[in-house]
Amino acid sequence: VTSALGMIDGYSYGTDDCASSPLETDEIERLEAAVGLGPEDDRHLARAAEILEPYAAEMVDTWRGVIAEHPHLARYSARPDGSRHEEYSAASHPRFARWVIDACTRPRDRAWLDYQEEIGLRHTHHKKNRTDGVEAAEDHIPMRYLVAFASVVMLTTKDFLRRGASSEAELEAMHAAWCKAVLLHVTLWTRPYVAPELW
Ligand code: HEM
Repeated sequence: VTSALGMIDGYSYGTDDCASSPLETDEIERLEAAVGLGPEDDRHLARAAEILEPYAAEMVDTWRGVIAEHPHLARYSARPDGSRHEEYSAASHPRFARWVIDACTRPRDRAWLDYQEEIGLRHTHHKKNRTDGVEAAEDHIPMRYLVAFASVVMLTTKDFLRRGASSEAELEAMHAAWCKAVLLHVTLWTRPYVAPELW
């Protein structure tokens, strides 16, 4: 799979290596409606992607900086002995940066739904550490931290959007659309954590 950055190891979007979501695609529009994401938001997300593209890697560094400040979060990307795992961080970094753009631009279809299942699984004991073949301190990221961290991912993005926004109104609209999109993604990532009849 290629991107502006070239091949991304472990990025299985749209391939046979990607997990399958058990959800029907008509659930997508119900969730879009639930987060209030509409066609206007998609226009703002398309513009946001143009602005964010050159900063996506820096955004990931920003989020990882927040995680690194908190030992109870940093341990999920550490080695078994608790030290920093540079290879693990380096390997997943381009996929994380690619997600920033994907979240704004990918059509929400079967392939998109399936990759959200894959990202969810990669935060759980089903698939964490496997994609990059690493040994890490933890093999599962608790759902509570996954959900809570959405706050950081939503709020910190506003400063990056401001770098390219043409007006305060456009900034607010892009930021609102980004927040809706993040919540939509994270909602789907919780699916493999939760008993189907509860989710
Ligand atoms: C809303 C919050 C979060 C977002 C948007 C997010 C996003 C992502 C993305 C896009 C990837 C790469 C997926 C891929 O392989 O294509 C990833 C992987 C990863 N994330 Fe998160 N994440 C969040 C929360 C967290 C938290 C709270 C932690 C740890 C405290 C965490 C640790 C990791 C780790 C260790 C990986 C690599 C997983 C693997 O072994 O494949 N993430 N995340």
